[in-house]
Order: sequence, then C-alpha cells, then structure tokens
Amino acid sequence: MSVPAAPLAGQFEGGCAFADGAYVPLTEARISLFDWGFTRSDATYDVATTWQGAFFRLDDHLDRFFASLSKLRLSIPYDRGELRQILHGCVRAGGLKDAYVAMICTRGVPPKGARDPRMAQNRFYAYALPYVWIASPEKQAQGIDLHVSSRQRISPASVDPTVKNYHWIDLVQSLFDAYDRGHDTSCVVDAEGCVTEGPGFNVFAVKDGVVHTSDHGVLEGISRRTAIELCARLDIPLRVAPLPVDLLRGADEVFITSSGGGVLPIAKIDGKPVPKFPGPVTQRLQDAYWAIHEEPQYRDPVQYT
Ligand SMILES: Cc1ncc(COP(=O)(O)O)c(C=O)c1O
Repeated sequence: MSVPAAPLAGQFEGGCAFADGAYVPLTEARISLFDWGFTRSDATYDVATTWQGAFFRLDDHLDRFFASLSKLRLSIPYDRGELRQILHGCVRAGGLKDAYVAMICTRGVPPKGARDPRMAQNRFYAYALPYVWIASPEKQAQGIDLHVSSRQRISPASVDPTVKNYHWIDLVQSLFDAYDRGHDTSCVVDAEGCVTEGPGFNVFAVKDGVVHTSDHGVLEGISRRTAIELCARLDIPLRVAPLPVDLLRGADEVFITSSGGGVLPIAKIDGKPVPKFPGPVTQRLQDAYWAIHEEPQYRDPVQYT
C-alpha cells in the first residue's frame, strides 16, 4: 500500500493520527468495536519519541515493532521506509517538537462469525501527541513513591513480554493498589517473587555502586537498553539478572526507565525513603540519557518545512 503525500507541517496542530491509510486529526481516528485488538488484546504496538525536533533511536523502535509483529503473526502493509515516513508525517502534521509517537497493529475484524485469526485483515494505526511523561519533572523532583505489588506480571510462558503488548490488567490493578495505599506508581513481580516491570517502565536498583535490573519477564525497553549501554560507557558496573524484591528494598538508589521520561529517580519504596535520592549513579545516567539525544547516530530529525 502506498503512503499518502506528507501532510503539511502543522496541518493538524497539536497531534495527528494515521488510520485506514490516511492522516487525520486525532479526534477523527477510529477503530472498529469488533477489532480483535480491542476485544482480545490481539495487537502489538511501539512508542517512540521525538525530542527537540528529532526522533530518538527510531531504528531501535522499528526493529522492536517489526520483531513483535512477526512473533504475533501480524503484518502491516508498509515496509520500514514507509513506516518511518508515516511516523514523520504524524509529527510534522502535529507541529510537535517533543512528541509521543505510537504505532499499532491490531488483528482486525475477521469475517462475520469467523473465529480463525488467519481470516482477519490486520489493521495499522499511528499517532503523534505532545510528549508524555511517566511522571512530570515536578513530580520527579518532589519524589516518586513506588509500590512493590505482590501481583504477578502475566507469565512469559503465556505472553512473551518482549512483544510490546496491551496485556495490562495486572499492571493497572497494581496501580489501584498503589493509589489505595497512597503511593504514586507500582511494579509487579514474577512467580519467584522477583521484580519485573511497571506500567510503562523497567526497574533498576543500585547497590554498592552496582546497577541491577531484571534479565527476564520484562519488555526490553529502549530506554532500559540506553541505560545499560550508558553504564558501559560510564564504567558503571552492571548486573542483568533476576532482581529480588529485597535487593530493591535494600538498594542505595532506585530508578525506572521509560521512553516517557528516560531515567527517573525513585524517592521512596512503599513509603520508605530510598537512602540516596536522587542518587549519584542515577543522576549520571539521567544526565547522560538526555546528553546522548544530541548524538547524530541516535537522531532522526523531522522536516517541518
Ligand atoms: C510494560 C512496559 N515495560 C517497559 C517499558 C519501557 O519501554 P521503553 O523504554 O521502550 O519505553 C514499557 C513502555 O511503555 C512498557 O509498557
């Protein structure tokens, strides 16, 4: 399928969607009530960002999205170059410099009465909105209080967590638990009681100068990868292995990573202050996270004119 001509810069000021092969204002993007993406969470997606007018690590997001499509036996009618063009088009039409840019593929609607996913025509959607923070910079400065839920993330034996997915009921319920107890956000555990991830982020603990993060049961976040690569660059010891809850609770520093804010320091675990907030290792990684947005190999500038 060919991609329509690029929309004008700012044509849909404030945000633009791409649905059913056309660029449209956000409020006009629709999906069918009968799309399995909605009724069965049979979908995959990815979220990239632009910062100061350029995509950050777009190739890594595209790699992950195409890998997720293939693992779920989904396909989109666009190749990598065309997808890139669509995402650029959404940001350009939205006139956005700092943007949250989503790409989604759903199973679609099988013919009436059919229950065979092979008969559904997969659907593709994309949109760009103003940048979304997991926690605003003000909230980060004030201090995020993370609840460690005893709820288990859906097992990797059931749903491959490296496929970015909408199986979020466990995560959403853990958020309610957190709010009920007066905390700001939450993370969930695996069947062995080790920390996995939270609603939209990966979790890191720093103990005696070593950075720890889970090696399994999690989405391989692009910002997680950035933090891991930055540890190597900055000579910070790193251990990617199961992350016991006790290690998190006893950590010197805790941070989370997300495309919605990069490296975000955690001030409290279940209301108990983390000893160093923001800790020196977290601070170095956070500074480096934003600094590498300037490096040409990670930037894909949007043409606004
Ligand atoms: C469940 C989950 N884990 C981790 C992440 C972090 O991934 P990334 O760094 O690519 O934003 C996300 C992002 O939305 C997520 O949904």
